[in-house]
Amino acid sequence: MSVNDSVVPAEPAEFWLFGYGSLIWKPPPHFDRRIPGWVTGYVRRFWQVIMHHRGTPEAPGRVVTLIDRSYWAQLTDHHDSAPDKVWGVAYRILADRVDEVKEYLDIREINGYSIHYTPFHPAAGVDSLVLPRAGPIQALVYIGTPENEQFTGPQDPQKLAQHIYHSHGPSGPNREYLWGLENSLDALSTESGDEHVTDLSNRVRAIAAQQEKENSPADKSRAAYSLAGLGTESSQYHNFRRAGSVDEQEETEKTS
Ligand code: BEZ
Repeated sequence: MSVNDSVVPAEPAEFWLFGYGSLIWKPPPHFDRRIPGWVTGYVRRFWQVIMHHRGTPEAPGRVVTLIDRSYWAQLTDHHDSAPDKVWGVAYRILADRVDEVKEYLDIREINGYSIHYTPFHPAAGVDSLVLPRAGPIQALVYIGTPENEQFTGPQDPQKLAQHIYHSHGPSGPNREYLWGLENSLDALSTESGDEHVTDLSNRVRAIAAQQEKENSPADKSRAAYSLAGLGTESSQYHNFRRAGSVDEQEETEKTS
């Protein structure tokens, strides 16, 4: 027996994937652990164009990417603060399924994202039995860097909210992605909120409420009357009644 015959095969390399966008609430296939936690050194922003899922090539939507914090600090962003920790979840992918999952993610998230690695910090209180070791875990993360064509850079928040409100794709309305992210971040920890996401969510809710109001039957008819320069619906009702009486009068005169 040679020395090499007695060597115990090494554990297959662990593969961890960090999700900070839709991966938080839409897990990849073939994972056996899902751990909430955070990474540092980045800022999460809705600065990545998406031409599928939540938009179309003709009318692309917006999704999140991570921006290197030191690069972001040089930009003029209307949302001028960002939490030190970018919260999300890390998934441990079964070793024999790693290639399959990478392929799945490349298909799912094409469009400008590239692969990076970053230390992931499990949230305080995560059972140590589910962790590979104490301390941060090296995790793969997909990032749309400023060099990629789909990167938009800083956006006016109200225009961005309008854009998200109006965008739709084969996976549904862009606003569901935004609100899905807001809800799933809230569920991770008491400190996992992200002002950029919350502010956009509030703005889109306000736009949706306004649209709903404008599309309600009562509001539509009010708008139609005022567009026609006919005053309010109730005054028009009275005008109509008055016109009705004149018609009736003319009718009476003709027949008499
Ligand atoms: C995410 O959900 O974290 C994500 C996945 C793929 C590309 C970019 C972000």
